[in-house]
Amino acid sequence: MIANLRGLEIAYDDTGGALPPVLLIHGFPLDRTLWREQTRRLADIARLIAPDLRGLGESLLPSEGAVTLDDYASDLGALLDALGIERAVVGGLSMGGYIAFAFYRRYRSRVRALILANTRAGADSPEGKKGRDDNIALARTQGAAALADKMLPKLLIPKTAALRAQVADEVKAMMARQSVAGIVAALAAMRDRPDATPWLAEIAVPTLIIAGADDTLIPLAEAEALRDAIRGARLVTIPRAAHLSNVEQPDAFNFAVREFLRSLA
Ligand code: MLT
Repeated sequence: MIANLRGLEIAYDDTGGALPPVLLIHGFPLDRTLWREQTRRLADIARLIAPDLRGLGESLLPSEGAVTLDDYASDLGALLDALGIERAVVGGLSMGGYIAFAFYRRYRSRVRALILANTRAGADSPEGKKGRDDNIALARTQGAAALADKMLPKLLIPKTAALRAQVADEVKAMMARQSVAGIVAALAAMRDRPDATPWLAEIAVPTLIIAGADDTLIPLAEAEALRDAIRGARLVTIPRAAHLSNVEQPDAFNFAVREFLRSLA
């Protein structure tokens, strides 16, 4: 489906129904199909809304102008408005988690609960910022497929890549089909994002944190730090999962989300 919002076209999936709404925010450089195993298998318990962030998937980037995490969060607020949803559970994976923090800051009364998967609160280190600039240069000179080749080994454990070639191929294809402009905008937005650590003590909604036991991109220690800083937060660590824990171990991921959503009822 496509929503026309704030002069933008935002593509999204919506499983519909009168169930409690859950907004699912994808990571980088990905799109809403990241959530396929969730939208397919959790639709009996929640109304799942999975948008493509502007510039990624089928959502357009309005102009060459810079994008901030707040811009992505505002798009999502406008999407909920368009769907008539006042309050939702907000879940994000990795960059989606960075955007979930921005969303919470902006619209806290609209957040029923948070799901923070494979994410961190801190800003980029100087080395991390340099890595963003290197990836911007790589995408601009060699295209999305080159960035996909570079990132794939960090997203899945080697066993998945070796034994479940279809999963690895799908993730790679998801990255390779993103537009260079959308990739560059997202990298710059992540590079320039603020440190969300001081905000964590302000979070006053039920929070589920999910980590991949073998995530090297955002190690488990980051999830433990979130758990320690967010009042009452619960951490679930998923074995045999790297950065895309929801894709790599959908049963365990969905079980954790299902239990959490049940606890909110
Ligand atoms: C993501 O998975 O969204 C990104 O890799 C996160 C990041 O690069 O900081």
